[in-house]
Amino acid sequence: MMDTNVESCLELDLEKNDSPLLVIDDFSAGYDESLVLKDVSLKVPRNKVVALLGRNGVGKTTLLNSILGLVKSSGGSMTFDGCKMDSLPPDQRARLGIGYVPQGRDIFPGLTVWENLNVSLRVASPAKGEVKTRLEEVYDLFPVLKDMLKRKGGVLSGGQQQQLAIARALLLKPKLLILDEPTEGIQPSIIDQIEDAIYSIKRKGEMSVILVEQYLDFAKNASDSFCILERGYVVQEGPIERLDDELIDRYLTV
Ligand SMILES: Nc1ncnc2c1ncn2[C@@H]1O[C@H](COP(=O)(O)OP(=O)(O)OP(=O)(O)O)[C@@H](O)[C@H]1O
Ligand SMILES: [Mg+2]
Repeated sequence: MMDTNVESCLELDLEKNDSPLLVIDDFSAGYDESLVLKDVSLKVPRNKVVALLGRNGVGKTTLLNSILGLVKSSGGSMTFDGCKMDSLPPDQRARLGIGYVPQGRDIFPGLTVWENLNVSLRVASPAKGEVKTRLEEVYDLFPVLKDMLKRKGGVLSGGQQQQLAIARALLLKPKLLILDEPTEGIQPSIIDQIEDAIYSIKRKGEMSVILVEQYLDFAKNASDSFCILERGYVVQEGPIERLDDELIDRYLTV
């Protein structure tokens, strides 16, 4: 297993296809004095969707930010695609293939929809023929974007901004897409489109997803497995079929 050097990680060509894409092992982290995540272990299989669940304030976003390298670790390790990434800064983790749609909407409000998409294309810089394919993929998922290319991001509805944020992440073709509460404050018809986008990602089988979600019907439909955090600990995990009313009452109902 390689350590610290992103170039060697990118070139790494072990027989890694059977191993999970992301392995979090006994990971702890927090802010200043307070430890938020305690000995968290989690595996994200390739091309599967894992729902990361838990009540407000249990540490879901902190775990996502830790995967991105934005929160300082106080113990444990993370391995992504065969690469130990604990000492890698956020930009290098992104280069390994981690895409993030943070809680709230991560777009440039002063740029047009097209300019927002183009920022991702410039970062990804795919081959010329590939640009069109990638754009068509995201327009297929979210047709409204194609109709609004000239409009400023900031004037789109909340749901449209969320679609734009997801589209921006998808254009980068990450191996892992991280979605932090994509349905928060969004109307049902757009939630359906985001759900369809996740189905489509699963069908294509080229990306894993970590989905933080409070809307449980959506999480159940879209995910293959779940992991529940409580007070910074993983308290339950398993295939999504096992997420029954008893677990929901015990760990998720407010
Ligand atoms: N930047 C920060 N500095 C200090 N404490 C923080 C910071 N961010 C989060 N926390 C604290 O860490 C704990 C976990 O917060 P986190 O945002 O990870 O929870 P969450 O599960 O994502 O909650 P929600 O469902 O409300 O989004 C909370 O007690 C929160 O107040
Ligand atoms: Mg959060």
